[in-house]
Amino acid sequence: MKLLFLGDLVGRTGRTAVIEQLPAIVEDQQLDFVVVNGENAAAGFGITEQILQDVLDAGADVVTTGNHVWDQRDTLVYIERQDRLLRPVNFPSGTPGRGAHLFTARNGAQVMVANVMGRVYMDALDDPFAAIERVVDDCPLGAVADAIIIDVHAEATSEKQAMGHFLDGRVSLVVGTHTHVPTADHQILPGGTAYMTDAGMCGCYDSVLGMDKEEPVNRFQRKIPGGRFTPAEGEATISGVAFETNDRTGLAERVAPVRIGGHLEPVIPPFWNL
Ligand SMILES: [Fe+2]
Ligand SMILES: [Fe+2]
Repeated sequence: MKLLFLGDLVGRTGRTAVIEQLPAIVEDQQLDFVVVNGENAAAGFGITEQILQDVLDAGADVVTTGNHVWDQRDTLVYIERQDRLLRPVNFPSGTPGRGAHLFTARNGAQVMVANVMGRVYMDALDDPFAAIERVVDDCPLGAVADAIIIDVHAEATSEKQAMGHFLDGRVSLVVGTHTHVPTADHQILPGGTAYMTDAGMCGCYDSVLGMDKEEPVNRFQRKIPGGRFTPAEGEATISGVAFETNDRTGLAERVAPVRIGGHLEPVIPPFWNL
């Protein structure tokens, strides 16, 4: 089956690019399943229920998040009725919403998606490795799930690579989010799991991580906050990773980055229809 994962939507420019262009991408590439990280979709901070609905209507099957999941306070309430929105699975027990779920793809296949947060240079959460192991043990690839997608929302590249190898052969894709800069290390690991350390963001790359560059540069220089972080408003690049799985095993057969529009050189997977 053919799948697509898009990195963190940042602000109006990022979400608008995806909402406007995803329907044609899904159609042209005959995608069976799409996951989008939405943690920065609402002015860079969290996601509103309306934006979530717009992203789902555009063709996303699941929206994952990360450390910014609760930045819009309403999310604590509406996440209970929106089962296509995931928050990190290793938040404390009793946290609203859920971190992993089995979804039905357009082709009828069962796709497990899990969102997990790293702990290196981030909040102290439950062990992400133990948490994801429980999820995968409950839903084995090739038996219960036809594909398994893991969004590792983490700062450290080492922690994301370690998660990739920890899950190699047991899931279809391990992809990193949170750092907003696409990495060039997409590969299929020895056990058959597709891997990329960072999917990049869907946002304006003439920026600092999608935010208007002036205030971040000022804070690094002067250590005195001069204003709020606001999303950069230039044209967004849609950034992510495309992959294809074996229908019998659920393991990856092809993986390639996707970058469309904006300031970055375009990258279209060689196995996509032009
Ligand atoms: Fe992010
Ligand atoms: Fe994040």
